[in-house]
Amino acid sequence: MRGFTYRDGLLHVDDVALDRLVRDHGTPLYVYSAREMRARYRRLAAAFAGTDTLFCYALKANPTLGVVATLAKEGAGADVVSAGELERALAAGIAPERIVFAGVGKSHGEIDRALAVGVLQLNVESVEELHMVAERAAARGLVAPVALRLNPDVAATTHDKIATGRRHDKFGIAGERLGEVLDVLRGLSSVRLVGLHCHIGSQIAVVEDFERAYARMATFYRTARAAGFPLERLNLGGGLGIRYVDERELDIEAFARMALAVTRDLGARLVFEPGRYLVAAAGALLSRVILVKTGSEQRRFVVVDAGMNTLIRPAMYGAVHPIQPLAVRAEAALSTVDVVGPICESSDIFARDLRLPLPAAGDVVAFMNAGAYGAAMASDYNSRGRAAEVLADGDRVAMLKPRLEPVQLFADEAVPAWLRPAVRPSDFA
Ligand code: LLP
Repeated sequence: MRGFTYRDGLLHVDDVALDRLVRDHGTPLYVYSAREMRARYRRLAAAFAGTDTLFCYALKANPTLGVVATLAKEGAGADVVSAGELERALAAGIAPERIVFAGVGKSHGEIDRALAVGVLQLNVESVEELHMVAERAAARGLVAPVALRLNPDVAATTHDKIATGRRHDKFGIAGERLGEVLDVLRGLSSVRLVGLHCHIGSQIAVVEDFERAYARMATFYRTARAAGFPLERLNLGGGLGIRYVDERELDIEAFARMALAVTRDLGARLVFEPGRYLVAAAGALLSRVILVKTGSEQRRFVVVDAGMNTLIRPAMYGAVHPIQPLAVRAEAALSTVDVVGPICESSDIFARDLRLPLPAAGDVVAFMNAGAYGAAMASDYNSRGRAAEVLADGDRVAMLKPRLEPVQLFADEAVPAWLRPAVRPSDFA
């Protein structure tokens, strides 16, 4: 059973009708399906059954505590890239020894915190960072567990802005420098090399792209072992692609067979960092049509109350999120429309020349597959608050993150003392 289904013509998340959630919580509203998240986690875990593989959910895809906790309950570890994500993973119940800490720019404070809580490993992205980690660990009398993030120089089949494994990308250490870095490691007593790491990009559906990278990583792994480093883990990153509209979804079972085959002789524990694959299809963004505007040349703009501040993927990557009605309408005639948000930017557009039964003001539509990099990348731009977020689990519903009132958006700001007294909202009450 999928997370989002039509029953009696009404779109449901798990066993809850979306129109009820709109009535109770308003729009824009992110709704998540615990059932879909669990099904995805279990399918991935089943593909690696019988192996000691660790799945570290990449919090960047959706760091909302209730989402992280749902996956934690299934046994997921966490891939975090900031102190904020680290605290969230811990707060959601993920044990430090199941957390990997990545990122090209970890601050001293972040390294210190990761060492203090005892994360599984720090994924180190440069020789400069290796020295930094070594110093911070030495100052505390600790030995930091590190994995080297290597750049396998593979151009994955994906959007340019989310490919990370090419030579010119800012991520990782060039593979051919491995020998040199191992020499540096020999001189550092406060770091211990526990593994290697790579991540070639996001939204990749071609098994062969991963295969090229993983085969190179297996070679690097053998090289490091032969050089006298008793590695334990091979962290192969995330990037598992999903179907947004009509693309090919990554064949998870074929992916798993390939990954296990390429690494079979290494005796390494595999670690993966899936984000999107686990949560994208488990989320939808519900948004109300404010009005339908007729522009020049009779262009019809459906203006909705979610904008690029709510879901930035269409504006940023040209991403397409299918738009579905909450209630199926029998034999409605199709119109050609642009679906746009209320933000004052021309790029605040979700779909152009879309064929839709013409919505009316007040109708609610669902942007599908919005569970990953949706709420996570939202902002308060134009001082429009973020969408509320709710989770359905079977017939249960929980508010994960309430919406803030306009004045709450600046409640922690201060006007300089020399400009006070400022106008307060109560002055207008
Ligand atoms: N591991 C590392 C080191 C990463 O950089 C990422 C994503 C992941 C794991 C998780 O990748 P996933 O399994 O979710 O593909 N905002 C973009 C995606 C950016 C991905 C950044 N790194 C989007 O909306 O498509």
